[in-house]
Amino acid sequence: MATFLVTLHVLAAAAWLGGAAYERFVVVPDVRRTWSTPGGWALLRLMLRPERLVVGTVALLAATGAAMAIIGHDGFFHLSWVGAKQAVLVLIVVGYLLGVRPGLTRMRRDVERLHRGDAERPTLRPDFERLVTRLDVIHVGIVVNVILAIWKPGA
Ligand code: HEM
Repeated sequence: MATFLVTLHVLAAAAWLGGAAYERFVVVPDVRRTWSTPGGWALLRLMLRPERLVVGTVALLAATGAAMAIIGHDGFFHLSWVGAKQAVLVLIVVGYLLGVRPGLTRMRRDVERLHRGDAERPTLRPDFERLVTRLDVIHVGIVVNVILAIWKPGA
């Protein structure tokens, strides 16, 4: 059971990190390069789409992590590497809900309008750059959690 859980947990972490790297190092530079062109809008629309997939991946990560914490008697939010990982994940979820989701919803609406032939709203580019910065912070959180999981300080 423990092997099954850790396998699912690591696969979810790998999927999240892989998707984040693809988004940050391939899609974002191309969206910037092709901004204000039909191809650029199509790329931006693609970039804003996989929210459900990411939320599902994070839910799997949290559920398998919680199950392992219960089975391993690590507890929740203690002063330990597992507690630190839990705190980082909570910060990521709160940061996403308060700092990312509202902008994402607004941008999606703007991009759909563009596809219907409307003009670009002046808020779209600042929204995009803000989204990239905030996702960067979240991605640092994922890397911190991978390091904590491998290093296990204090264990
Ligand atoms: C961003 C979120 C997270 C990422 C990227 C992440 C990543 C990882 C990775 C890569 C491992 C495998 C490490 C190894 O076997 O050497 C691991 C193990 C583990 N993680 Fe997470 N994790 C996250 C969140 C959580 C949460 C929220 C919990 C608890 C609720 C948790 C609890 C655990 C436990 C108990 C292990 C087992 C370590 C072991 O026994 O070797 N993780 N995690």
